[in-house]
Amino acid sequence: MSVACPVDLDTGKLRREISKIYGKVAVEPAAQFHFHRGPAYATEFLGYDADELASLPAECTGSFAGIGNPLAIAAVQGGETVVDIGCGAGMDLLLAGKRVGQKGQAIGIDMTEAMVERARNSVAASGMTHIEIRKGDATALPVAGGSVDVVISNGVLNLVPEKELGFAEIVRILRPGGRLQLADIALDRELSEDVRQNIDLWTG
Ligand SMILES: C[S@@+](CC[C@H](N)C(=O)[O-])C[C@H]1O[C@@H](n2cnc3c(N)ncnc32)[C@H](O)[C@@H]1O
Repeated sequence: MSVACPVDLDTGKLRREISKIYGKVAVEPAAQFHFHRGPAYATEFLGYDADELASLPAECTGSFAGIGNPLAIAAVQGGETVVDIGCGAGMDLLLAGKRVGQKGQAIGIDMTEAMVERARNSVAASGMTHIEIRKGDATALPVAGGSVDVVISNGVLNLVPEKELGFAEIVRILRPGGRLQLADIALDRELSEDVRQNIDLWTG
């Protein structure tokens, strides 16, 4: 089974459209979107702990737009280094930061400026100085090779057209024995060429 159908589309335009949508989720999470958002959705449908979410800055939980719960896949240990690819407003990242503690490190990466800003505000409000946000793309992660214990990602790789490159980057940054805790969308059949080229279907 391949990780991706080949795509022949304007990937720059696709990224601009994706950033436009998630930029709006960052600043106006209560607006109309085709996907769920927020802490009530996260607790009711995805099994997040309501009390734990209530302890986080509201601006990171309000703009949560994940599709699963990557931290529920396995326990993250104190002292580990975690990278969250496509961290959005930072809800999973802050939860990871709590788990790894001051002796660990949590790095969030996102390509959308407004999400980066919101995540940085959330980190500052949390007071956790071992969490850092870096602006960057899933296909060229601004992270040193072999330096990460756990990669998490929630609802992001489905939006990346160059999926092999995205997975190659994950393999590059993980230490030997490191792990990927991925929540994402998988298809069990190939999509037709016209569907793959339709940017509206990627983003809406
Ligand atoms: C569905 S949201 C999920 C955000 C976050 N993981 C969460 O659970 O709330 C997708 C996020 O991925 C980011 N994103 C999409 N494509 C990306 C790429 N190629 N590189 C980095 N970030 C990307 C978007 O900016 C957006 O913040």
